[in-house]
Amino acid sequence: MKFQFHYYQPEFEDLPTAVEHGLSQSPKQLHPKFFYDKEGSSIFEQICEQPEYYLPNVERSICEDFADEIIACLGEDCHIIEPGAGSSHKIRFLLDRINPAMYVPMDISSEHLRISAQKLAEDYPDLPIHAICVDHTKPYELPTEIPADKRVFFYPGSSLGNFDPEDAIHFLRDLHAKAGKDGALLIGIDTKKPAEVLNLAYNDATGMTAAFNMNLLKRIQSEMDSELDTTSFTHHAFYNFEHGRIEMHLRSHKDQKVRVNDSIFHFQSGESIHTENSYKYTPVEFVALAKEAGWQSERVWQDENGYFSVHFLRVS
Ligand code: AVI
Repeated sequence: MKFQFHYYQPEFEDLPTAVEHGLSQSPKQLHPKFFYDKEGSSIFEQICEQPEYYLPNVERSICEDFADEIIACLGEDCHIIEPGAGSSHKIRFLLDRINPAMYVPMDISSEHLRISAQKLAEDYPDLPIHAICVDHTKPYELPTEIPADKRVFFYPGSSLGNFDPEDAIHFLRDLHAKAGKDGALLIGIDTKKPAEVLNLAYNDATGMTAAFNMNLLKRIQSEMDSELDTTSFTHHAFYNFEHGRIEMHLRSHKDQKVRVNDSIFHFQSGESIHTENSYKYTPVEFVALAKEAGWQSERVWQDENGYFSVHFLRVS
């Protein structure tokens, strides 16, 4: 088994600092990266199995329908780097069809990353794997073990949508700088579509998305010295037309005080903590965004309803 684990813990912003800062803001907010502790990562996997959350299924079907074309774009012996790899499920689609020279999963959730990468190493024993625990909202360098040529960043699942557009450009620029002269990017982007479809996707009937959102409050309750009644908050998700994004909030349904360490935060009834944005882009909008970060669009694939898009881009 050719498996190495790299851990870049020092760059992490911790939850107590983020809570102190985020709940002092107006409107109150918390960064979505704090969703992904062990429990949150596992709830996210269950979200991906909900019928209303169409993103993974439609992305998979696009990849299956256009597999030959996608593989032709990647070429031989590439070094695939996956930011936010999570459970490393999606890479299996590629690993079953090509033999990359290296796979580099990166994720913020160290335990989840280690377990998934180890499992992958067992299933693909000849594949060199370098798992990197990193917060990619902070500056980081790739380990020197990763060859500088034939780098392909793989960023499925429309995770780019969780960045505000300016941060998305910044993130894509960073990938562009790390990709090298012959680098490429294979990325999945959720598209704009009727609001009913989007609203259902983030309000699944089983309540998995609600549990994912509420897990943030549970983390504050269990990891910090706090007085917080989680039952007085509810999950609230809706499509904001003006900004072209799904917004997720934790909404207080009464006037209340929340204590976290030595700080008291006041909530009015109806006031919320803004926990996530999920931007949706038409293919044209995304190609323009990526261009600002230096990426040149080479191919775009879509399903017949135009619900999702998969893009292949090169360093221009
Ligand atoms: C990870 N990311 C692309 C998901 C999304 O759709 O924005 C996170 C998520 N939030 C609620 N459901 C899924």
